[in-house]
Amino acid sequence: MDLHRDEQNTVTFEIVDRVAWVSFNRPDKRNAMNPALNRRMMDVLDELEFSEDVGVLVLTGEGTAWSAGMDLKEYFRETESQGLRGTRRAQRESYGWWRRLRWYQKPTIAMVNGWCFGGGYGPLFACDLAFAAEEAKFGLSEINWGILPGGGATKVALELTGFRNAMYHALTGENIDGRKAAEWGFVNEALPLEQLKARVGEVAQVLLKKNPVALKATKDVVRRVGTMTYDEAEDYLVRAQEAANSYDNEGRKEGIRQFIDEKSYKPGLGAYDRSKSKA
Ligand code: ACO
Repeated sequence: MDLHRDEQNTVTFEIVDRVAWVSFNRPDKRNAMNPALNRRMMDVLDELEFSEDVGVLVLTGEGTAWSAGMDLKEYFRETESQGLRGTRRAQRESYGWWRRLRWYQKPTIAMVNGWCFGGGYGPLFACDLAFAAEEAKFGLSEINWGILPGGGATKVALELTGFRNAMYHALTGENIDGRKAAEWGFVNEALPLEQLKARVGEVAQVLLKKNPVALKATKDVVRRVGTMTYDEAEDYLVRAQEAANSYDNEGRKEGIRQFIDEKSYKPGLGAYDRSKSKA
């Protein structure tokens, strides 16, 4: 058995029209996240993050699952048998790539094609946008096997939906489908599975037309202002725009020029044409 090759295959990706379609690829194990997958995912994210060929990253799953959460055998039982060193290492590897994804350079979309359990809520929240198949099933199944929803899952549930929903979800371990997940705010939209990829591709194309410096600044501020007071947020947003200007000081001027002088587009109806930008 070629262990390196096995680890490589736990995640696959292809780049089409500047969209990186990244897939959890352990369909036989319902894409449960084992240490090999967690290590490989970090490498894949690393490879794609600053690639000129990639403008948007989509995270999906091969087969019937998005991800059935942490691998109960390889992530929990086998790492625990190595003592605290093993447990902490496995946690660093998984939490590490979720954190990397939360603050990723490019906009990210979770395309939830099927089962999404427990630890899967980490990458679900890490993605900026999320679209689910109506047929998908979401669950905090931790309670069903005797633990609390760790690895950030409790925080994710409460961050995305209300207290009563989060509490019911965590205490009962009952699953909700994609439609309910959209109603609760776990995902932006739910669609029939056969329409899911087309819709996600459409959203990715919308994002690809935007100024990439503005996209990164925007996704970061939306994540950060939640815990700030109004005054802190007001000040931080001024600083964040000024920091963005240090990367691209021409884009917004070009955006104003095409509207006010050239009258070639309307910002209320779509993005300015970046191909005309000198920067
Ligand atoms: N960890 C380890 N192995 C898993 C996991 C998992 N989380 N999920 C599925 N598998 C394995 C099964 O053991 C089985 O392996 P085998 O073929 O070697 O016997 C294989 O994947 C297929 O699983 P089935 O249960 O046969 O698939 P089915 O489609 O019938 O059911 C379902 C899918 C509902 C997702 C089921 O596999 C399941 O309940 N999985 C566990 C979900 C879960 O509770 N995850 C942990 C959340 S808590 C956390 O992440 C901290």
